[in-house]
Amino acid sequence: MPQLGPATNLFSVSLRRKLVTNHSTLITLSSLSFLLEGLRNIRTTGTFTRSSTALCEAAIDRIDFNNTRVIVEFGAGDGVITKHILKRLHSEGKVIAFEVSEDLCADMRAIGDPRLVVAQDSAKNIRHWLDKIGADQADHIVSAIPFAVLPQELGKAIVRAAKDNLQTGGCYSQVHYSLKTKAYYEEVFSKVDARRVWANLPPAWVLYCQW
Ligand SMILES: C[S@@+](CC[C@H](N)C(=O)[O-])C[C@H]1O[C@@H](n2cnc3c(N)ncnc32)[C@H](O)[C@@H]1O
Repeated sequence: MPQLGPATNLFSVSLRRKLVTNHSTLITLSSLSFLLEGLRNIRTTGTFTRSSTALCEAAIDRIDFNNTRVIVEFGAGDGVITKHILKRLHSEGKVIAFEVSEDLCADMRAIGDPRLVVAQDSAKNIRHWLDKIGADQADHIVSAIPFAVLPQELGKAIVRAAKDNLQTGGCYSQVHYSLKTKAYYEEVFSKVDARRVWANLPPAWVLYCQW
């Protein structure tokens, strides 16, 4: 793996200084932030591109927004799926968006929506963040964590924590580029449906998991 870290860090900082003058500019640069994050940390981002509109919509397709108040998102990146959730979320709802990258969390905070709780933390700490907002369980969970490139033990622990904190009848939706880790979900959930989303680069899958 080439050592891209320091060079891309400098590139990122200088671009942000030159180009980012206000919050709305920061949002339009989000795809650039995501590309830079991919170059620095491909082992945690798993990709250089964000989810397309079609993939974002497929990821939240099983959510009944009329009866949903607490949504948890894992691997939120710069908030590309989060924004689709916020467009439809109830005014008293909450979305806890987990992301481990500091820069991408800054992009999400710039969205500036009081219903959005940015959790700069690993998704495995879902319980702690639900407690923080006073919620017993998540109504639905949406994840784009690239489990195929993470250690298997960590991936399985996150999927188990998701199931333990998801209400009965809730859906855990997982975005993936392959079905390599489908067994993670089948070990924990009783029902796993896979849907192909062609309108994305590369074409992707959404796995809908329920218990
Ligand atoms: C494939 S990107 C998805 C970004 C965005 N949600 C999208 O759909 O385009 C995966 C994201 O998961 C984040 N991530 C990786 N491991 C994580 C973990 N343990 N907890 C929370 N986020 C994590 C990465 O930093 C990266 O931004």
